[in-house]
Amino acid sequence: MTPANGVTRHCRVCNAEIAPFMSFGRMPIANGFLKPEEAATEYFFELAPAFCDSCGMFQLMEQPRPEKMFHEQYAFYSSTSRYMQAHFEAFAHAVINNAIAGRDDPFVVELGSNDGIMLRHFRQCGLRHLGVEPSANVAEVARSQSINTVSAFFDRKLADDIVAEHGRADAILAANVMCHIPDLPGVGAGVQRLLKPDGVFIFEDPYLGDMIAKSSYDQIYDEHVFMFSATSVQRAFAPFELEVVDVMPQITHGGSMRYALAPVGSRPVLKNVGAQLAKEAALGLDRPETYLRFKANCESSRAALMQTLERLRAQGKRVVGYGATSKSTTVTNYCGITSGHVEFISDTTPIKQGRLSPGAHIPVRPYDEFVKKYPDYALLFAWNHAAEIREKETGFIAAGGRWIVYVPEVAIVA
Ligand code: TYD
Ligand code: ZN
Repeated sequence: MTPANGVTRHCRVCNAEIAPFMSFGRMPIANGFLKPEEAATEYFFELAPAFCDSCGMFQLMEQPRPEKMFHEQYAFYSSTSRYMQAHFEAFAHAVINNAIAGRDDPFVVELGSNDGIMLRHFRQCGLRHLGVEPSANVAEVARSQSINTVSAFFDRKLADDIVAEHGRADAILAANVMCHIPDLPGVGAGVQRLLKPDGVFIFEDPYLGDMIAKSSYDQIYDEHVFMFSATSVQRAFAPFELEVVDVMPQITHGGSMRYALAPVGSRPVLKNVGAQLAKEAALGLDRPETYLRFKANCESSRAALMQTLERLRAQGKRVVGYGATSKSTTVTNYCGITSGHVEFISDTTPIKQGRLSPGAHIPVRPYDEFVKKYPDYALLFAWNHAAEIREKETGFIAAGGRWIVYVPEVAIVA
């Protein structure tokens, strides 16, 4: 049997044997920003992705136990970006105005509701809602805003408890959460029990097709045990009698996909589902060669980025990281970026400030320090927020600063 977490040699979805197609090497917990005294006892694992030839699921061979990632110190608060707030407001209203419109006293459950960034809109509309959020610190933020939240991991047992207390759900939602859960079949079984026969399960995650197209390998880190495609999602939920009825591409997280699933036969399957499946076949997302090409692209991206950073170091330029993202942990550790290349990483999240970046131990400092003395170059680790950031940082460019980007290609831009 495949373990729910830890190291596996079998697909977490279909149990076929899998093997890694590459390794990013020894990696720490991506969101594990360290207090200086914690640096000596840092936890590492091997970051090695695999592609399952049988069901098409892209996944990690090894994942740290969930308790190591989602705990009372989890440093990720969804509500830090203005664009993300607008995104989740739009997501909530799309559900309210379509998926559950006209229903009598609908009940909405969100898996991984974080600080309540999406559920607050259901609360504001007076709708019955429940968030499931294992990280106690972020769950507490939601509760302090009267957003009903239970601190637990979602599984079959919790699904039964929710049904017993609140009844079945009209909609189950999840954003950037499903790809975190190693026991995907356990969640499938839970969703099957919790959802009404005419209910809908809508979730979105970073999209495998975008990652392959942009060589944005930094989406691969401990939390993202899966990278989904419409093809792999369709196959993963079929055993639970759920089918994909709609797919909606999103620009968030550097390219995401929103999937709507419903009990088989309960609603029409929209035309774009078939179109997306055909597009994925044309892109080769279901073929092993695609991943060997991806591996070669990762290696050339690493070489180009390090060449740039070494050159700037030799020229005595000041380089600062922008955004202490989880993603940046894969980049710094895979490429070998140190505080010799990047003086510090600027970040607006108070809990990350004063800490060291995982593995590379680059200091994280408050945003003020970036503004106080602009560097020559800013390495854009938060590239998924490029539009918002470049709009905001016109002062940096006016002062002669330049961005170093690495997605889809390594470049220096204004
Ligand atoms: P996020 O987009 O959630 O990426 P990941 O999922 O890889 O962690 O993280 C964005 C980080 O960047 C977060 O720590 C906040 C920070 N940030 C800034 O410091 N300034 C900004 O203007 C924005 C948009 C984000
Ligand atoms: Zn499989």
